[in-house]
Amino acid sequence: MSEKVVLVTGASSGFGRLTVEALARRGHHVFAALRDVNGRNTKAAAELAALAADEGLSLQVVELDVTDQISAEEALAVLLKTAGRLDAVVNNAGGIFPGPVEAFTAEEAQRQFDLNVFGALRVARAALPTLREQGHGVLIQVGSVSSRVTIPYSGLYAASKAALGSLTEAWHHELAPFGVEAVIVDAASYPTSIGTNAVLPADSARFSAYGEGFGRYVAALTERQTQDPGDPTAVSDAIVALVEAPDGRRPLRTVVAPLAQLEAVRTLNQRATETARTVAAEMGIGAFLAGH
Ligand SMILES: NC(=O)c1ccc[n+]([C@@H]2O[C@H](COP(=O)([O-])OP(=O)(O)OC[C@H]3O[C@@H](n4cnc5c(N)ncnc54)[C@H](OP(=O)(O)O)[C@@H]3O)[C@@H](O)[C@H]2O)c1
Repeated sequence: MSEKVVLVTGASSGFGRLTVEALARRGHHVFAALRDVNGRNTKAAAELAALAADEGLSLQVVELDVTDQISAEEALAVLLKTAGRLDAVVNNAGGIFPGPVEAFTAEEAQRQFDLNVFGALRVARAALPTLREQGHGVLIQVGSVSSRVTIPYSGLYAASKAALGSLTEAWHHELAPFGVEAVIVDAASYPTSIGTNAVLPADSARFSAYGEGFGRYVAALTERQTQDPGDPTAVSDAIVALVEAPDGRRPLRTVVAPLAQLEAVRTLNQRATETARTVAAEMGIGAFLAGH
């Protein structure tokens, strides 16, 4: 297996942290992208640097705040200067704004999308000229099963992940002629720091008008994560497998979820992909689909 040069955003904790450690231990040259390396993520950056030194890994920290285009461009410049090429980008940075949709202001909703959707767009915009010029590379987005199966109190998050899924589908087709792939991992709920980092609506009056439903939602998530937490390495393993898969053979969508959700989401994904092919063919642009 050849060594890949990989950029992973949001590598301070959760899936991102597991992914950078797994990739580096498998011999890849990994750029662990963190925001605020000299502030909130000083400890995470030091831990990653220590791991790299202790185990002799090609793992280096790079500053990248996905809400800032210049930050994304600068991170790519550092990576290319050091490694000379880029094989995979993992758009993992993200977070959840849970609560009844009405309780969020438009500004709060924009922040949710700025992180989960425009963040990936910024990093892709910084990376794609290099990937297209190279004629190879893969964009891997970390999505969610909630983009297909939306339950109450996760509306903003689900909408942002649905948008990320749509962007990935468009990239998947549009980038194929350049030899570049775009894929998404739709993950179910796994114990990471996502709950601790969740941002609740500031409008407590509207929030409380929705009664006990949100409390039940949080209690159910907490109970599930206590009784049957699931193993977040299932997600990082799926990302690693996509990085290492042969070019041109990566599936558009990979679902990582307990069995009950897995089959339903896979079926929905398959039907949506088939329908997109039918619509594109009817419009006379079927030849512009990946693998047409
Ligand atoms: N855990 C789940 O159940 C689940 C399920 C489906 C999908 N996902 C998705 O998986 C991805 C990773 O989440 P996680 O579950 O691993 O949660 P997490 O442990 O909270 O990790 C989120 C990461 O995103 C980073 N981040 C936040 N804002 C950022 C910014 N502006 N710029 C750069 N990085 C930023 C965080 O860094 P800081 O430490 O600096 O905040 C952290 O490293 C997210 O996209 C999430 O939506 C999670």
